[in-house]
Amino acid sequence: MDKRKMLPKRARMDSMRGPIANGPLQSRPLVALLDGRDCTVEMPILKDVATVAFCDAQSTSEIHEKVLNEAVGALMWHTIILTKEDLEKFKALRIIVRIGSGVDNIDVKAAGELGIAVCNVPGYGVEEVADTTMCLILNLYRRTYWLANMVREGKKFTGPEQVREAATGCARIRGDTLGIVGLGRIGSAVALRAKAFGFNVIFYDPYLPDGIEKSLGLTRVYTLQDLLFQSDCVSLHCSLNEHNHHLINEFTIKQMRPGAFLVNTARGGLVDDEGLAAALKQGRIRAAALDVHENEPFNVFQGPLKDAPNVLCTPHAAFYSDASAQELREMAASEIRRAIVGRIPDCLRNCVNKPINTSDPANHQLNKQESSDVH
Ligand SMILES: NC(=O)c1ccc[n+]([C@@H]2O[C@H](COP(=O)([O-])OP(=O)(O)OC[C@H]3O[C@@H](n4cnc5c(N)ncnc54)[C@H](O)[C@@H]3O)[C@@H](O)[C@H]2O)c1
Repeated sequence: MDKRKMLPKRARMDSMRGPIANGPLQSRPLVALLDGRDCTVEMPILKDVATVAFCDAQSTSEIHEKVLNEAVGALMWHTIILTKEDLEKFKALRIIVRIGSGVDNIDVKAAGELGIAVCNVPGYGVEEVADTTMCLILNLYRRTYWLANMVREGKKFTGPEQVREAATGCARIRGDTLGIVGLGRIGSAVALRAKAFGFNVIFYDPYLPDGIEKSLGLTRVYTLQDLLFQSDCVSLHCSLNEHNHHLINEFTIKQMRPGAFLVNTARGGLVDDEGLAAALKQGRIRAAALDVHENEPFNVFQGPLKDAPNVLCTPHAAFYSDASAQELREMAASEIRRAIVGRIPDCLRNCVNKPINTSDPANHQLNKQESSDVH
């Protein structure tokens, strides 16, 4: 046996990536779950090809040296950030799989330059996020969350006056305009659902070719300003990138209809909380529902929104159902498995940073064993 194959070989920045040693006479490659503890779903999928460890870390300073030196694969939720400096701490890493769809907590470009493939799981919770978005929109219009809290707090509704007083602000949906920013998988699913409730649905997405509005029976606008100007409720569904940080800010809020609603189930960084808090206090925005927050995992009410009225916050849970979480974790672990038993990036289904900086195609292979036994 070639002894060199047994060494955890990782040449940094020079694009050389040797095969990951794997097989009966070799220790199995190490795969680490960075920001969690529970590997019960991942283990059955990976146990015959890898050793699986968990770190339960919120930053790379909390990750054990063995993982930094030896892990060839990393699984991660959204509660840890990997900057270029963080990525450079990993000496053997070849693949990162985000257990989720957004990859904004990873410096994807730096990973590519380091020869590390970054993958995501794009389709797993589309229906859950779309349903949660509708749930939040309906709560803003029908004020169910606030009314239910009044009942819990013991408020008595003894006649129509009390009901009217408590339910002030409840609005009719039919005929209102819902503006969708970002008509990807989730944005489209929301658009289809919203039509059934009687919304007039418009969308803004500068990256889509013409025609999609016809397939889905929607109205397209070509500037964010137009969307904000026409919408009674704005729902954010774009990916967060270097061009749209704080897309909703003090300036763009002034382009919204006075008293409009805002919903964000996409990414916290799309909204400037200071601007939103001021607009809620002034009533310029009537109410907002936020599943995602810029300062996750910390409590959003510790920031500028702490005194703002009419905010409904959920803890980045829109994607979650028992079924979607299971599916998500299986899909993420299967991508790691494909990387171990196949070739990177050819065998990967959802690599977001192709081409990876690997000049020799032989180095795309993590394990010499070719296998079709992929979950
Ligand atoms: N809350 C949750 O639990 C949860 C779960 C999954 C995804 N998400 C987030 O939901 C969002 C949508 O996910 P998806 O799977 O539909 O993504 P997607 O990639 O399918 O769609 C995103 C769309 O946004 C568009 N876009 C990008 N920048 C834009 C901009 N500045 N203005 C308008 N449109 C823009 C893109 O062209 C694309 O069509 C992402 O931000 C994702 O991170 C949240």
